[in-house]
Amino acid sequence: MNIIRAVKTYLRSKFGGSDKSRWSSDDSLNPNWDERTIMLGRYIRPGDRVIEFGAGKMALRNVLPEGCTYLATDIVSREPGMLAVDLNQLPLPDLGKHDIAVFSGVFEYLTDVSAVLSVVGPMVNRIAASYMVFENKPDVVRRRANGCVNDYTEAGFIELFGPLGFSLTDKAQWKQQVLFYFEKKGS
Ligand SMILES: C[S@@+](CC[C@H](N)C(=O)[O-])C[C@H]1O[C@@H](n2cnc3c(N)ncnc32)[C@H](O)[C@@H]1O
Repeated sequence: MNIIRAVKTYLRSKFGGSDKSRWSSDDSLNPNWDERTIMLGRYIRPGDRVIEFGAGKMALRNVLPEGCTYLATDIVSREPGMLAVDLNQLPLPDLGKHDIAVFSGVFEYLTDVSAVLSVVGPMVNRIAASYMVFENKPDVVRRRANGCVNDYTEAGFIELFGPLGFSLTDKAQWKQQVLFYFEKKGS
């Protein structure tokens, strides 16, 4: 029942944060999402130091250009080398400096996107991210039933990055979701 799932998401986001039990099961990861991650991978340059948040099955690893380093993080560590990082539990551990951060299907599950950006922004010069913008899915009950805890419009989502020095320099579409590419000046 959508409404029950929606209420559970709402309560969890108000009191507990993350849905660790959902994401602990590999069945929660849909192979169709790889296509989105591969599209975001187009923003990675040879030799980049890449950090991915909510890396899932790490589809990004297979499409990295020559010479990249890759640090995969997710709320649960799914395989050796993947770091467990819950973006709803700030502060984060020291994750070092990187050129680009990738978030494929992750911001929807974060209770305080601005706070996460204020931690991740200083780590990187570029961010590639997908987001299900509100105008493409305006049914809040369905959003909550799918686990989504926030409702940014496209303009509202872009605005979050400005205070951290990021400008939107490219945009694409994957199904109903928008793929955003932000860069700091001169990067
Ligand atoms: C929709 S899946 C996308 C997975 C992968 N990026 C992809 O595109 O196939 C959402 C991902 O975000 C992760 N996630 C959910 N809540 C999170 C949180 N609070 N902190 C970090 N990762 C989280 C999940 O474990 C899952 O891997």
